[in-house]
Amino acid sequence: MVIDEIVSHESVAPGVFRLSFYEPRIASHAKTGQFVIVIPLETGERIPLTINRADPKTNIITLVYQVVGKTTVLLSTLQPGQKLHAVLGPLGKPSHIEKLDKTVVLVSGGLGAAIILPEMYAFRAVGTLVVSVIGARTEDLLLFRDEFERHSDRVLIATNDGSCGVKGFVTDALETYLQEHASEVAFVKAIGPNRMMEAVTKIAAKYNLPTYVSLTSIMVDGTGMCGSCRVSIHGKIYHVCVDGPEFLAEGIDFTELENRNKRFQEMEKKAYETWCQCQPERR
Ligand SMILES: Cc1cc2nc3c(=O)[nH]c(=O)nc-3n(C[C@H](O)[C@H](O)[C@H](O)COP(=O)(O)OP(=O)(O)OC[C@H]3O[C@@H](n4cnc5c(N)ncnc54)[C@H](O)[C@@H]3O)c2cc1C
Ligand code: FES
Repeated sequence: MVIDEIVSHESVAPGVFRLSFYEPRIASHAKTGQFVIVIPLETGERIPLTINRADPKTNIITLVYQVVGKTTVLLSTLQPGQKLHAVLGPLGKPSHIEKLDKTVVLVSGGLGAAIILPEMYAFRAVGTLVVSVIGARTEDLLLFRDEFERHSDRVLIATNDGSCGVKGFVTDALETYLQEHASEVAFVKAIGPNRMMEAVTKIAAKYNLPTYVSLTSIMVDGTGMCGSCRVSIHGKIYHVCVDGPEFLAEGIDFTELENRNKRFQEMEKKAYETWCQCQPERR
């Protein structure tokens, strides 16, 4: 098989895809929480995606991604048998996974649901109890509900319209859970929109619990050279690509991070619209 050849590529939910490809150089030593940078086609941009599974026996890497803009749309059109133009990795530091006597609470939102799945598999594999907190606007939009239910010791659901679980946000479900169970919890891990991670951090702190987060800053090289992914923690600068993506959340300047993540929004929108105009079937 050719390196970076796609072996399977399927839609797992509206706008969400699971992509597997042959990559022995990365599959042999990737760890939970690390990511790759993918360039789907020669003309494409570089996008960071978390390694969902790395199988050193078959040399297959699996990624789970949500289609949000030009490059993820482009990636979603590739078929098994085609080759990804380039894949760089494994990048970043592995996540903090260990056998603990207490429970780990994993809170995810938006595309954070795809990114937190490997952490759930890894904590269960070492024998740590996992409570997953997932949410969406409505029940139909809950991502990977079956997967969370299969691999977590308990799943708490929040929907904005109350169609499933608690009516409200994942933070409401977390707060209700911690009111009764905080003493059984080792720490909280949150992945999702910056504002959600910030709110989770504040709630956990009320119960004297630390929160870890995995940040998704905008990246270019992924190797600590360009400065694109920088984040301020207690006033000191870190690079998410080499110092993270996982960090202890206390002291993270989430407002700066959010503003930095929005800095290319107009250009991203224009790039997508221009690209669509060049694709007759998308006009
Ligand atoms: C370390 C890391 C791991 C990641 N892992 C995954 C993953 O496993 N699955 C997954 O679906 N996504 C993941 N992401 C996010 C993914 O890289 C972006 O969604 C992707 O780069 C968007 O590219 P695009 O050209 O399709 O969209 P763009 O045109 O670049 O952006 C479209 C919209 O998405 C938003 N966006 C763009 N980049 C990001 C980002 N880095 N984080 C949050 N929002 C963004 C933009 O603000 C814009 O509104 C990860 C990001 C990082 C930094
Ligand atoms: S992406 Fe360039 S320094 Fe992190």
